[in-house]
Amino acid sequence: MNAGRLRVDAGRLRRDLEQVSRFGADADGGGVSRTSFSPGDRQVRAWLAEQAARHGLVMRTDGIGNVFLRLPGGEGAPVWMGSHLDSVPAGGAFDGALGSLAALEAARRLVEEQAPLHRPVEVVVFADEEGNYHHLCGSTALVRDYGWDELVGLRGRDGDRLVDALAGMGWDPRAATRTALAPGSVHAFVELHIEQGAVLETRGVSIGVVTGIVGLGGGELVFTGRQDHAGTTPMPLRRDPLRGAADLVTRLPEVTAAVSGSAVATCGVVEVEPGATNVVPGVCRLRLDFRDPDRDKLLALERAVVAAAGQAAARHEVEVSYRRDSITDPVRLDDRIQEVIGSAAGRLGLSTLPMPSGAGHDAQNLARLAPTGMIFVPSVAGRSHSPAELTRWDDVAHGADVLLATVHHLATDPAGLADAGGPAAVSG
Ligand code: GLV
Ligand code: MN
Ligand code: MN
Repeated sequence: MNAGRLRVDAGRLRRDLEQVSRFGADADGGGVSRTSFSPGDRQVRAWLAEQAARHGLVMRTDGIGNVFLRLPGGEGAPVWMGSHLDSVPAGGAFDGALGSLAALEAARRLVEEQAPLHRPVEVVVFADEEGNYHHLCGSTALVRDYGWDELVGLRGRDGDRLVDALAGMGWDPRAATRTALAPGSVHAFVELHIEQGAVLETRGVSIGVVTGIVGLGGGELVFTGRQDHAGTTPMPLRRDPLRGAADLVTRLPEVTAAVSGSAVATCGVVEVEPGATNVVPGVCRLRLDFRDPDRDKLLALERAVVAAAGQAAARHEVEVSYRRDSITDPVRLDDRIQEVIGSAAGRLGLSTLPMPSGAGHDAQNLARLAPTGMIFVPSVAGRSHSPAELTRWDDVAHGADVLLATVHHLATDPAGLADAGGPAAVSG
């Protein structure tokens, strides 16, 4: 087989992306809401099983819901390629789906070409990357086992428990505490993803070679005031916790800028209790997402936001408490895999740009287990986590071709990454 001529079937990949975007499609607004373990997710899992059976891939699902499709052939630790098939609420059709379905397409092409493989290859689809229950939920479970008490405490944005969602899939939730992999179980991991920003499009470059992934924290701020009657409590006498929360949110631009030029902080979930138009709320909960490429600055950012929340609470005579949910360290991606990606793109005549990722990815966890690389393709106008998310079909095909060539190289090169010195170090 001539590796130089190995290409994906771009038409089939496009049809798959269009098909999968119908699983969990919103009735209006054109978005996709395919939370892990939701009806749309069940549909996509059934569709994947059909694809596996049709194309000679052996499918298995681990205790947290990560799916693995194994190609025949090869020995030793596998090369993994993949991404996630869950989405944010009212999300787009490409985030995660591109990397998962391009990996499936690459696998089908390797099977069809009967490509001799030195190492096994597996397509991996990680569960709950978008963190309905836990940030990078499925890939975290590969790096470390969840404790049972921790697992039982994990709830989705609707208040539902992860253990109930797993049981609802017909699985034993206890199996979700036994998922971690030993270092060395994976030879290498490669994830194709849309950029979700506008750098590639602005620079007119086809392929981003990802150098590292931003550090990411999450937590909850709870502002507590006094629940009162909305008609009879004079404005100056109120202790409205939403005022403290709103004050903090409006100050986030200056708080982040004081920490670093790249720090960002977002409150994407705000809840007031008890939640009635004629009641001054007693409690306001903010779910916080904060990011910086440097670990020390990430922790400084968390401290700065919590301090600013304390000041905002004091100004409005309410209380505030903070609970950290998770910190995911920034990572540098593997230099040798970056070279393999760059050469694969070069052979395909595609321009490349080394660039960091401001979005979180499962690759961030995988980089702790194995040498890891990521390939980015342009996002139109940089839009993502929105129904407006779009990547042009020729960019989809280019990214998938680079993924196929990269994985083919990693699975067939006898030298492999043997003098690797282990996974890339965590920065910061
Ligand atoms: C993943 O989509 C993230 O939160 O960056
Ligand atoms: Mn996402
Ligand atoms: Mn994603």
